[in-house]
Amino acid sequence: MIEEVLAGMTPGKALLWTLAVFVSVLVFRKLQVSAEISRLGSRAPKISFQLPYALDFIYKGHIANLAHKDIEFWAKSITAAGGEANCKTAELDAGISTRVVLTKDPENIKALLTGQFADYGKGEPFHRDWKEFLGDSIFATDGELWSRSRQLIRPMFSRERIVDTEVFEKHVQKLIPLLGGSTSPKGSRVVDVGSLFFRYTLDAATDYLLGQGTDSLENPATRFAEAFRYVQQRQAELFRFGVFSFAMSRTEFRRNLKIMDEFIQPYIETVLSLSSDELEQKLSKRETFLDALARFTRDRQVLRDQLVAVLLAGRDTTAGTLSFCLFELSRNPEVVAKLREEIRSRLGVGASGQKPSYTDLKEMKYLNAVINETMRVYPVVPFNVRYSLHNTTLPRGGGPDGRDPVGVRANSRVIYSTMLMQRDPDLYDAPGSKNYFDPGKWIPERWVSGWSPRPWQFIPFNGGPRICIGQQFATIEMGYTIIRILQAYERIIALPVSGKDKVEDPVLRFEVTLSPGSELNCVFVKEGEDYARSSEGVGRA
Ligand code: HEM
Repeated sequence: MIEEVLAGMTPGKALLWTLAVFVSVLVFRKLQVSAEISRLGSRAPKISFQLPYALDFIYKGHIANLAHKDIEFWAKSITAAGGEANCKTAELDAGISTRVVLTKDPENIKALLTGQFADYGKGEPFHRDWKEFLGDSIFATDGELWSRSRQLIRPMFSRERIVDTEVFEKHVQKLIPLLGGSTSPKGSRVVDVGSLFFRYTLDAATDYLLGQGTDSLENPATRFAEAFRYVQQRQAELFRFGVFSFAMSRTEFRRNLKIMDEFIQPYIETVLSLSSDELEQKLSKRETFLDALARFTRDRQVLRDQLVAVLLAGRDTTAGTLSFCLFELSRNPEVVAKLREEIRSRLGVGASGQKPSYTDLKEMKYLNAVINETMRVYPVVPFNVRYSLHNTTLPRGGGPDGRDPVGVRANSRVIYSTMLMQRDPDLYDAPGSKNYFDPGKWIPERWVSGWSPRPWQFIPFNGGPRICIGQQFATIEMGYTIIRILQAYERIIALPVSGKDKVEDPVLRFEVTLSPGSELNCVFVKEGEDYARSSEGVGRA
């Protein structure tokens, strides 16, 4: 029988048979995977796409990213999948077993980060994709490797270490004159706060980590700063393209990684050349993060990877938050006046204003309201991802009413959005209720009006075992910086970006973290200074 079939087989027929077998295997595998998901739980509403492997959706996502419209794109995709007003969980079921679940539901986020912490992690694909940049550092690993990194790094963020605010003082004193714009009579007073804050936090972070800052406030075009920026941007692109990233060039990426490493390595060599006694002596004078880390490990690669991870985690996050904060202050003069009053009554302003202590920073309620409100509206990690480490579920989002658990097979991606959740009107009191404040707007008043977020509905630093290790450090750095700036300046005036005639909401650029996607133009005015807005053209100092 088989001989007869084979005897009558032409090359054309053979090809058709091969194709038929191939398609049948794919269909069978797809049904098998679907059955497996059904055994675990329900399906979430599906995001629609036209091309195999959702290539059209990936492409649209990339275009949205280039146009800095990620937030709108993802919000629309989730809502459209549900076909109802405010769907909170959806899925993209592309390929045979490539399924991504997207959620902004606090119950699901809580499960990912704490209740089902053992079921979800960064995952091996993330570790592999980010290995050249972040190695085996805290940021890219799970399980034992991650736990060891966390134990290694945690002591560097103990209270005794973070109350030392001298490193911020040193750099904020360089930043303050620059905020005043050009001092020449013909120069512009307009400054782009975004660009200044990214330089300020790079200088402060490298100084804190290595004992020497990059001095990018003085020399904006430092090689390290540019290489670091490029590597992050390309890494985010490579990650977004997932399995298709194999076709993307890594030459420029590697060249820039090399520049970064060449900057960091001499510091590592210096610390490793010290004997234990010399290191202890140095530590008792003024210790850097690297010195302290070298007490626990002498492994060059471990030191390099953890340094880069903490630099990535700690620099752009505070820079982005400070940029959005100062920009919102510039268009809300009544908030500036109230905050400055709090600063004046506690510490004084102008040349005699005192430096804030750790206790001041903790106790200043309005200052903390301003910082929290910025992190509510602009959480700098607006989207994040976890992989399911084995077959599991998410508590909500499946079934006809979205209340059933969603089945999640091993090695599926779950993308969760802190930003979409923190702006979701369903999680706030209804309009018209007592103390209603529009959840989509930046209004620090809400934090001092008796409102407070419900558990797991405000998590800019994440939550659970992987909560941001630098949370205290970041809050101190941001509070300290804002106070020192407002002691020096009485008013901040918002101006439109070049080519526009009115001040608009900031453009949100999303790479590894959220940052301003256009200029955030401001003029800083000192007490008693007579600054006429009309006298200023729009341009950068
Ligand atoms: C506004 C400032 C900051 C925000 C909003 C922020 C937010 C976050 C978030 C959301 C995560 C979780 C990432 C994940 O698990 O996928 C994280 C982790 C982390 N953050 Fe921050 N961060 C900030 C500042 C800092 C600073 C200043 C440092 C250190 C100097 C730092 C160090 C870290 C580290 C080491 C981790 C990894 C923790 C782990 O995986 O166990 N962060 N941060």
